[in-house]
Amino acid sequence: MGSLDKANALRLITLFSGAVKGMGFYPASHPAIRQPLMELYKIMTTALCEEEQISWGLTDDIMFFDDHLFIAPSTAIADLTGRMIEKEISRIVATPSISYEELESFVKLLSAKSARFDTLSRQMEEGGITGFKLVRYGDDRFDQADEESERNPDGDHVATYNKALSAIRSICRDIERGRIPSSVPIIQVVDQMVGITMQEPWALLGLTMIKDYDNYTFNHCVNVGVLSMALGATLGLDAVAVRDLGIAGQLHDIGKTMIPKEILNKPGKLSSAEFDEMKRHPELGSKIISEMEGLAPHISSIVLGHHLHYNRSGYPEWARKLPLDQMVNIIAIADTYDAITTLRVYQHPVNPKTALNEMQKMTNTILDGAIVERFVEMMGNYPVGTLVRLDTNEVAIVHRPNPLDENAPLIRILIDGDGKRLRAPCEQALIGSDGSRYARIVAVVDPLLKNIDIGRLIASGNY
Ligand SMILES: [Fe+2]
Ligand SMILES: [Fe+2]
Repeated sequence: MGSLDKANALRLITLFSGAVKGMGFYPASHPAIRQPLMELYKIMTTALCEEEQISWGLTDDIMFFDDHLFIAPSTAIADLTGRMIEKEISRIVATPSISYEELESFVKLLSAKSARFDTLSRQMEEGGITGFKLVRYGDDRFDQADEESERNPDGDHVATYNKALSAIRSICRDIERGRIPSSVPIIQVVDQMVGITMQEPWALLGLTMIKDYDNYTFNHCVNVGVLSMALGATLGLDAVAVRDLGIAGQLHDIGKTMIPKEILNKPGKLSSAEFDEMKRHPELGSKIISEMEGLAPHISSIVLGHHLHYNRSGYPEWARKLPLDQMVNIIAIADTYDAITTLRVYQHPVNPKTALNEMQKMTNTILDGAIVERFVEMMGNYPVGTLVRLDTNEVAIVHRPNPLDENAPLIRILIDGDGKRLRAPCEQALIGSDGSRYARIVAVVDPLLKNIDIGRLIASGNY
């Protein structure tokens, strides 16, 4: 995405808005319409030479074009924003097949005052307009996440996770190139995640078992976002706060993009000079975030404080006295958990249960004890993604917690009682709705010993 610079993107939106408005007063052949339409068509086709599609529309009622966000709207943008909301459209997508005639007809349809999404979609179909697509207002955000989670939750959740990964990747790429990253992709994906998390705080937790050892930072960032959102929702925070946590969590380590790779990937202990360099990442990250459009200053300060520790003995030292709210403590807990459970060059991965025990030893010094307690409760005795052995000798992965009995989560059996790997995992409640017990968990199993890559299994969306 991003074949147009911001000035041209703004020009395109301005021309489009003007044409839609003008078409209500003049015929398409009138110079006041024809001229801007020709210019518009030229900009669109030039952009579509390089891209498979371009799109513009609304995220949180703010106009965007591809990666560009228009925070302070001009009259033309405000006009188009109002019109799109009225017509229940969140996004317009244009593909390389568009012709000038199609553009003219499309603009004409949008200029009709009363036509809304369903009517417009029907009219586009009848008029043979195939180069443009409309996305219904709301479908890009919470509603879509809800619908998707009903359709095929696991696969769709993995797709959402992957979308978050690519948003982080593109942010880091922009930083490496010295550009201020766009916040549109990260906001869009976090909005989807908020919809899922507010309904079922644990729904995305299994995904945090996805670890990529070569691209540790990207997965770590997404995992910290997911864990922080789940913890925030469990603590009873509202959707706005959970959204801020998701964005801050996913962006918390982007400052590392500016730390030399030799330090970042160094196996073993860092020298004190190297550690000093590494300690700059919260400041660097928070500075980048403060320059990104559409992100509350609050998010930048959460990122600044994520290594300050609960007792404020951490870094950056100059920020120790700053008044920071509990969101910093939430992110710090998610960060610590994901770091402990990840295999890295210098560290064997620790299973989720042991990680929680280790974290309990850090309470009230490094981590906020009261929130750690809630985190441990949320993860349950057998956190989602843990491999367990049953008293039937079967081996299973924990799929969902059971709020009624933390020792009896919903599991998926991977290996039968004779030690044979099942072709398709079999879902099983340890205690049925009639109270009958299928089996008991007797031990936590090291996935490496069973040659099972939990992350890959979950990432397949089909376990
Ligand atoms: Fe960090
Ligand atoms: Fe981190």
